[in-house]
Amino acid sequence: MAGFWGRRFGNMKIHICTKEQAAQRAAERYVQLLREKPNAVLGFATGSTPLQLYAELVRRYQAGDVSFRNTTTFNLDEYVGLDGENTESYRYFMDTHLFSKIDVPKGNTHVPSGIGCTDASVTVYDDLIAAAGGIDLQLLGVGRNGHIGFNEPGTPFGSITHIVNLSRSTREANARFFNSVDDVPRQAVSMGIKTVMNARAILFFAQGEKKAQVVHDALCGPVTEDVPASVLQLHPDVELYLDFDAAKLL
Ligand code: F6R
Repeated sequence: MAGFWGRRFGNMKIHICTKEQAAQRAAERYVQLLREKPNAVLGFATGSTPLQLYAELVRRYQAGDVSFRNTTTFNLDEYVGLDGENTESYRYFMDTHLFSKIDVPKGNTHVPSGIGCTDASVTVYDDLIAAAGGIDLQLLGVGRNGHIGFNEPGTPFGSITHIVNLSRSTREANARFFNSVDDVPRQAVSMGIKTVMNARAILFFAQGEKKAQVVHDALCGPVTEDVPASVLQLHPDVELYLDFDAAKLL
């Protein structure tokens, strides 16, 4: 089935298409952004959802279409207790799937540190983002419970980078990357909702039937801290890429 592009849903632009089309169209947006602003600040996400996009960004880089040499990057989150050498850490994920395959200087890439962090120390991440000029384009996936970053239901919309207690459902959903659910850390450091909303533009990806209900609730339901992704209804520049399964309740 062919995708269709550029539908407006409130003030959000929504694309319903295949994963491949989503990766290509979104990658093109990065290429355009970096042509206009080679030193753009990019917010990245981990998980299964962005993998095709990252592969496409690598392909476009290898084809000579884009350079990340002058970019600065900030990832959404990291598990507490895992250092960057740990193969389950989000730092390791980003190094493996993207950073080691493009020309971004390693020193320009930021993932919150999950080691030795305290409620007070993690807020420095917002200062780093501000010092870099703010995020130009933030990539988001969504949890089945509506989390963005690791901001679980109930997280205040005014939150900045903070330590999060992961819900049982999030730990179960992410257990596939670990030996068992008991090995999934109980806490993470995450950009807050306000940190995310401060980004100038947001790219939101959701794929698969398991995300259909939350996509519906986030887009069509009330804006509520019970569904963190619903806050995106209040952002002036959000582009959504949904596959047909994730969009089926819209
Ligand atoms: C990842 C993140 C999470 C994921 C979400 C969806 O950095 O912040 O919000 O985007 O849990 O994960 P996947 O893509 O694995 O379904």
